[in-house]
Amino acid sequence: MSTYETLLVEDRGPVRVITINRPKALNALNAQVVAELTEVVEETAISDSVRGLVLTGGGEKAFVAGADIKSMSDMNPGEALAFAGQGHALGEELNAIGIPVIAAVNGFALGGGCELALACDFIYASTTARFGQPEVKLGVIPGFGGTQRMLRRVGMARALELCMTGEMIDAAEALRIGLVNKVVENEQLLETAVKTATTIASMGPLAIAKVKEVIHEGANKSLDDANLQEQTAFASLFASADQKEGMAAFMAKRAADFKGQ
Ligand code: CAA
Repeated sequence: MSTYETLLVEDRGPVRVITINRPKALNALNAQVVAELTEVVEETAISDSVRGLVLTGGGEKAFVAGADIKSMSDMNPGEALAFAGQGHALGEELNAIGIPVIAAVNGFALGGGCELALACDFIYASTTARFGQPEVKLGVIPGFGGTQRMLRRVGMARALELCMTGEMIDAAEALRIGLVNKVVENEQLLETAVKTATTIASMGPLAIAKVKEVIHEGANKSLDDANLQEQTAFASLFASADQKEGMAAFMAKRAADFKGQ
């Protein structure tokens, strides 16, 4: 595995934990962090052994406090377009990788940090987590997919309120509005996210990849088209050894031994 200047990457069994590690800048995302995150996701996508990703933040205070305001402050529109493109490309790769990606939000998840968490399949938060899209306070708007993923996650009115007021919400409110799936104490956060990713890793890998594909792609389609995609994906799995193994194991009352084939 490559080494990274701004990330810590550790494999815990089948689950890869990526820690964004610039605690002095509250893990703010500059071009290097986004490039390194993209690289590790691409490296993971071709790995046979990694079956889940967990993203978290280094230090006590933050998951990610946003895109790096210092490095954005002098950008012209062309540079801002390229930077936003880099953030969007990362989000697309996180959505396209055929394994679960869980954000373990351990503190501030603001601006680009909230957008990074939204680009993960789902979010677990610690009781100390804070979420917000404060870009309007800086005279800009979310640029890493936040307006659109927030809209799809929590609905139009809440997305408009969060993106227009720039207000921070706590973990309990984030749970209430469906932005996060689960809230636990900080000490249990990483362990809880890794446990869920490990459970998913024990399922048929081809099936997990298809679940992810049909749900992410289906969200952008009509119900009829999305249902057709589901039907086709369901059928395609009957050509896999994993389907034979999974159903044979059920009937023999034993655990399935999936090979991802
Ligand atoms: N970019 C760069 N540096 C940041 C940062 C960011 N987004 N957020 C925090 N930091 C730095 C601070 O400048 C400070 O550095 P120094 O010690 O060198 O001064 C250090 O991290 C610690 O931060 P604070 O002293 O501010 O800590 P605090 O506890 O008082 O406040 C905070 C914490 C409320 C998160 C506050 O830091 C804050 O409001 N940060 C900015 C949040 C923000 O606006 N994010 C959106 C960025 S825009 C964006 O993300 C665009 C996009 O969609 C792509």
